[in-house]
Amino acid sequence: MDLTTTYLGMKLPHPMMAGASPLSDEIDMVRQLEDLGSAAIVLRSLFEEQIVSEQAEMMRYQEATDGSSAEAASYFPCADSFVFGPDEYLNHLRRVKEAVRIPVIASLNGSSPGGWLSYGRLMEQGGADALELNIFHMPLDARKSSAEIEREIVAIVHEIKRSVTIPVAVKLSPFFTSFAHLALKLDREGADGLVLFNRFYDVDIDIQELELTRALHLSTSSELLPRLRGIGAIAPLVRASLAVTGGVHTAIDVVKSTMAGAHATQMVSALLQNGPAHLSKVRRDLEDWMEENEWPSLTEMRGNMSVDKIPNPQAYARANYMRMLQTWARA
Ligand SMILES: Cc1cc2nc3c(=O)[nH]c(=O)nc-3n(C[C@H](O)[C@H](O)[C@H](O)COP(=O)(O)O)c2cc1C
Repeated sequence: MDLTTTYLGMKLPHPMMAGASPLSDEIDMVRQLEDLGSAAIVLRSLFEEQIVSEQAEMMRYQEATDGSSAEAASYFPCADSFVFGPDEYLNHLRRVKEAVRIPVIASLNGSSPGGWLSYGRLMEQGGADALELNIFHMPLDARKSSAEIEREIVAIVHEIKRSVTIPVAVKLSPFFTSFAHLALKLDREGADGLVLFNRFYDVDIDIQELELTRALHLSTSSELLPRLRGIGAIAPLVRASLAVTGGVHTAIDVVKSTMAGAHATQMVSALLQNGPAHLSKVRRDLEDWMEENEWPSLTEMRGNMSVDKIPNPQAYARANYMRMLQTWARA
């Protein structure tokens, strides 16, 4: 049974890996993840705001971006509440690299082009085998068009690709008017991988206290579906490697992701809930399922359910939508 895959130019024994999260904060846990079969490991992110503030430019940055510096600055966590400051992050990266042999992917997280991207080079020098660039942008500014937002995203990728030689994967949100169009642009800009999708942790309203509230709920497999659609839509179009993040909990989730066209599947919630041994279970279940269903390799399966296998995907999606609304019946 051949589970091998190539992700960001790296040959991996199988596609399952721990995604960006606190899972990689402790060296003991990082070693366990390697022992229990994580094919690579993505470190938690270093944030643009941390880097900019470290460079003593926080006030200037705030004024340039939103003009309400004092108030906006108060929304951000204080420097002490980050698990790793910028220097600590680079030290931790070096320690993780020394502790394991699997590829280590460092993560930068931000929303605008700028000097903070120079940390990509430092991460490369710290030994990162690849970078995951999480471009988190919440489009709440009505003056900014979708085209402008996309131009900025492409500019960020352009800038980071100029400063590092290691592969760069771009982690994106699902909310774009024409996601496949943006994915193609990033592919042409040289993104080596696309990671679908960022999760948004929406705020709720406390109607008694008149406050906004927030909570981080871990995912379930139901969150996989928009990722399958996103990967399936771009798999035939792009040269970049594709990874799913969000809703990967079981071997069947890995099979579906691969059929949509993914080269890698990242797990966070499943490992936080079940511990790192869950990785070995998913791998065993995947092998069993492939044997029962007579799939000799993941390569043969990859992309066999992507959008190019449907003659008219637009019509299919519309017809499917109408059929579902018309045929609903009370159970
Ligand atoms: C506690 C926690 C911390 C996370 N930290 C990061 C992070 O630093 N950078 C990042 O890109 N994603 C981060 N994520 C998002 C995960 O990498 C992943 O994309 C998301 O949880 C969806 O995958 P899942 O369904 O397997 O949990 C974090 C998720 C959790 C639950």
